[in-house]
Amino acid sequence: MVEKQLQELIAGWDGSLQWRYAHLANAAALLWEETEGINWLGFYLIDKETDKLILGPFQGKAACTEIPIGKGVCGKAAELKKAILVPDVHAFEGHIACDSASRSELVVPLIDSTGEVVGVLDVDSPMTGRFTEEDRERFERYAKRISSALWS
Ligand code: SME
Repeated sequence: MVEKQLQELIAGWDGSLQWRYAHLANAAALLWEETEGINWLGFYLIDKETDKLILGPFQGKAACTEIPIGKGVCGKAAELKKAILVPDVHAFEGHIACDSASRSELVVPLIDSTGEVVGVLDVDSPMTGRFTEEDRERFERYAKRISSALWS
């Protein structure tokens, strides 16, 4: 159901940056509405010139605008090209606390058709241990749909 709605929201991208952001904004709104127990959900996209993740469309409190690759959970997921599930953010060395209410976090990379990381999808929860392996798989599927619709 959510996946179908997501697919519809991101379909028909015209190749422009402006419309990529429009679709990402709607994807953030949908996934935010459909995910219980979270306080932040959004995208960070890679700026190739500076090799940093720059804040993209999101829902939740105002957040850090840039994260170097390799730093924080987002930067690590981008560097390793794999999802990172953090049950307790206080136990993750280098975690960047944008919203002090966050206790657990799930970050999945967005990977384009050439295998390059183009950004990450970050979800935060005020509950310790909020995310399961099933959530990780589900968000990886969302990320796959999003990157193939908007980076093809
Ligand atoms: N906690 C993230 C930073 C982004 S915010 O949570 C929105 C991190 O450690 O990369």
